[in-house]
Amino acid sequence: MSALKGLKLNLGCNKNYLEGWTNVDIEQYGRVDVCADLNDPWPWDDNSVDYITAYNIVEHLKDPIHIMNEAWRVLKPGAAIEIYVPSTDGRGAFQDPTHISFWNENSFAYYTQEGLGNIYSSIKCDYDIILFNTPATSHKIIWVWAICRAIKESVESPLLTHDTILRICQKMAASFDTKPKEMKEFLVDFQK
Ligand SMILES: C[S@@+](CC[C@H](N)C(=O)[O-])C[C@H]1O[C@@H](n2cnc3c(N)ncnc32)[C@H](O)[C@@H]1O
Repeated sequence: MSALKGLKLNLGCNKNYLEGWTNVDIEQYGRVDVCADLNDPWPWDDNSVDYITAYNIVEHLKDPIHIMNEAWRVLKPGAAIEIYVPSTDGRGAFQDPTHISFWNENSFAYYTQEGLGNIYSSIKCDYDIILFNTPATSHKIIWVWAICRAIKESVESPLLTHDTILRICQKMAASFDTKPKEMKEFLVDFQK
């Protein structure tokens, strides 16, 4: 099974430091590799990143279009961002006073040019939503867990191979009760 090599970003890492990843946060919680405000332009080059995990972070950022555009810009063609966000279909989106943007499963249609992405000129990105799940956990929280693959014109071969995607899909399909910590453990294991 091929592992994901290259630059992998763990956005909004907080205290969940992933070995082998570039761990990013606006605050220096314990170990952080890059201290950056993700509301600003992201500090990575175009087409330089192989995988992005964004667990419980996008709802803390001001502008979903900025997030999806910046992720798309830095991702290599065919590489992906994995987003795990509390959906407005449950309590999680609104219960936390620090949440400032709101997401549900319909939100993702705006970042595909075949979907609603061509309505607004500010949406520069184009993704293929390759995996989608809406697990429910305790306290009436519903999540949206999505893997969005960057569609770009370039024909560079994606490092996110078919095998890799299939393995993530199988894990996601079997894990409606999986919590973020277990997901991270899986991802660390997955890179080996
Ligand atoms: C709820 S925690 C998520 C922690 C971890 N990803 C998880 O799933 O357990 C949200 C994190 O996002 C970080 N954060 C909030 N706003 C940010 C910003 N503008 N840029 C970068 N990180 C930010 C916070 O400092 C915090 O560590």
